[in-house]
Amino acid sequence: MTAPVARKIKGGAHAAVRHDSATGHVTGRAVYLDDMPNASGTLEAALVLSPHAHARIKHIDAARALAAPGVMAVVIADDVPGKNDIGPSLRGEPALAEGVVEYVGHPVAAVAARTLDEARAAAKLVDIDYEPLAPVLTIEEAIAAGQMVSAIQVVTQGDPDGALARAPRRLHGEVRCGGQDHFYLEGQIALAVPGEERDITVYSSTQHPTEVQHGVAHVLGVPFNAVTVEVRRMGGAFGGKESQATIIAAIAALAAWKTRRPVKLRLPRDDDMRATGKRHGFLIRYDVGFDDEGRILGLDMTLAANAGNIADLTPGVLIRALCHADNCYWLPNVRFRGLPCKTNTVSNTAFRGFGGPQGMLAIETVIDVVARTLGRPLEEVRRRNYYGVGRNNVTPYAQTVEDNIIERCVGELEAAVDLPRWRKDIDAFNRANKVLKKGLATVPIKFGISFNVPTLNQAGALVHVYTDGSVHLNHGGTEMGQGLFVKVAQVVAEAFQIDLDHVRVSATNTGKVPNTSPTAASSGSDINGMAALAAVEQIKERMAGVAAEHFGVPKSDIVFAENRIFAGNRSMSFAELAELSWRQRVSLSASGYYKTPKIHWDPKTNTGHPFYYFSYGAAAAEVAIDTLTGESRVLRAELVQDCGASLNPAIDLGQIEGAFVQGMGWLTVEELWWDEAGRLRTHGPSTYKIPGSRDVPPIFNVRMLKDAPNREPTVFRSKAIGEPPLMLALSVWLALRDAVASVADHKLVPALDAPATPERILAAVDDIRARAGRG
Ligand code: MTE
Ligand code: MOS
Repeated sequence: MTAPVARKIKGGAHAAVRHDSATGHVTGRAVYLDDMPNASGTLEAALVLSPHAHARIKHIDAARALAAPGVMAVVIADDVPGKNDIGPSLRGEPALAEGVVEYVGHPVAAVAARTLDEARAAAKLVDIDYEPLAPVLTIEEAIAAGQMVSAIQVVTQGDPDGALARAPRRLHGEVRCGGQDHFYLEGQIALAVPGEERDITVYSSTQHPTEVQHGVAHVLGVPFNAVTVEVRRMGGAFGGKESQATIIAAIAALAAWKTRRPVKLRLPRDDDMRATGKRHGFLIRYDVGFDDEGRILGLDMTLAANAGNIADLTPGVLIRALCHADNCYWLPNVRFRGLPCKTNTVSNTAFRGFGGPQGMLAIETVIDVVARTLGRPLEEVRRRNYYGVGRNNVTPYAQTVEDNIIERCVGELEAAVDLPRWRKDIDAFNRANKVLKKGLATVPIKFGISFNVPTLNQAGALVHVYTDGSVHLNHGGTEMGQGLFVKVAQVVAEAFQIDLDHVRVSATNTGKVPNTSPTAASSGSDINGMAALAAVEQIKERMAGVAAEHFGVPKSDIVFAENRIFAGNRSMSFAELAELSWRQRVSLSASGYYKTPKIHWDPKTNTGHPFYYFSYGAAAAEVAIDTLTGESRVLRAELVQDCGASLNPAIDLGQIEGAFVQGMGWLTVEELWWDEAGRLRTHGPSTYKIPGSRDVPPIFNVRMLKDAPNREPTVFRSKAIGEPPLMLALSVWLALRDAVASVADHKLVPALDAPATPERILAAVDDIRARAGRG
């Protein structure tokens, strides 16, 4: 039969509709947690943080704080009625320090008072007697002390030692990259509201409501069903609210438990930056064997991560780093060793890319060093090493790369920008200028989509159709500005064939969809979109049955289109069918479930098929440096990003631009700086610089790969987008290395770590000049 599909619905799959809260975000009407009206009697809380990097807690005296105006309670570890443990991957990680503090900023106590000012003032009056212990502050010290937060991990294939020994050329070296603060606009916050008996509702700015539920239940010693966690939206998260939000929520819940009053805990920016974890800084050591063409024959690389004081999510971050240290290259003889170094600094955690950026920085440094040593273009050396199609395509962790489109991405980029001509212009500029020097570099990326832990690759959704034809959608994913809610709503609109404005997404709530995974690993729309689709399919099937009976046709003749239900040329509106279904006593509600197919992982050998598919991209960046001051600018960035068949090109464009600039920040201006006592001295916007609007490249062209549907049957053949484009910013870092190398006529390898701050660029320029002078 012919389906009447002349007019499409508004805002279905692939439509470039705006974020559902776009207007709310810019007018300030979108309700964040701190905007919710306080119930009467709500208390405000403030944390008491450790001033020591490592110390034994000898005594805590809360008397002065308790006597201060407005103070209702002081909570410490001893007040925990359940278990003081909120570890996300390993056990034994307390919400409030117990017996010992392990970093400057470690929460030891919290004060709950009638007002925020009273709470913050009283927090200064909690007297804590410490016995300082020797801290371990750097990766090197941790390695020397053999201090790790979890097991050392190795990913290997072939015979790296033999290949290195036989290689005609061999180099070794070291590179570092710094951490990064998430700098979400909305800081960490939670509001805990005690209910009847043991019930408690926690509003949390979290990417992982289920983990908050579990953490709160552990701390209070209640079953999971006593704790309901809700989150409507976060004002940015970027991985920083995956495990870190649980600390805040658990402490708020503990104070609420003790006072039997609602308690809100909202950190001021400086406390947020001191107390909660960041991206891991890495120290990378490589030993590479290659031939005269630049083919990498053997590679032995150690990636040492600064885990901070506890494991937190480090085991996962580290394995993702090791599973991305191949980037786009076939490495038949390789060993990647990952060291989760324990230091007395804040626990590092998830941050956009989750170790992937550090792993890719490592291998791109190796490629850069090999290319510069051979005096060949980066692009040529890369081409010699790319994964093949149908051959040379097994990763170090034994997954076969089945969807390789890397050369297509790179090809589209090179075709769009005329790289040789661009290179010529840069060289001409550098010949004509002594002080300012330009650099140009490209980068390809391949990023694995799925959680490395197979269990997490599942999602649930709950869909209700009401009798007026409006649809209520709920799923386990959380909204942090990335546009997940509108994307999943588009999926539902498309599947029901109704306009998007008939679909309303409600706050994520552990009581509606249980046992959820964090919204992370870029997989939010992949898995929640499919779960929602599964729910819709059930309801449609039932509604189609009602329509078939009504029109007296077989169910297979019923078509959903244009907000109507058709049986040949007869039809009724979606709302009419909803009403009719209810009259016929047919359920209009369903829960949907999805688990990602094909994936498996053996943590003993670190092999398997951890990623359902890969997302690809390529970028080129032009930078200028001032060789007298070390200052730099990104002048031009050209991007090609694979989005599969984009669910929403408007949202994806924003994700690509935002991720790229955030990646630039990590690699250039954002520097975390600890002093010799282990105190973070860059704990606010005055000292910690994130990229601003003027740092956005003046020429910034983003291209989404066209006609590139996912070869796997993902939701409407789309691909994940949240994290991959961050790594395109490696082009900026490589371009800065190129600019430094130009000072010595591209004859030497620059010594430049990340972030490439003015100080580091200046030092690298001085260093390469000195070496050129000697040589
Ligand atoms: N975009 C915005 N605006 N805000 C965020 O906090 N987080 C990023 C990315 N994009 C983030 C963002 C991170 S770290 C991830 S893993 C994904 O969004 C998570 O959402 P998704 O799985 O729905 O893409
Ligand atoms: Mo993103 S780092 O996986 O939250």
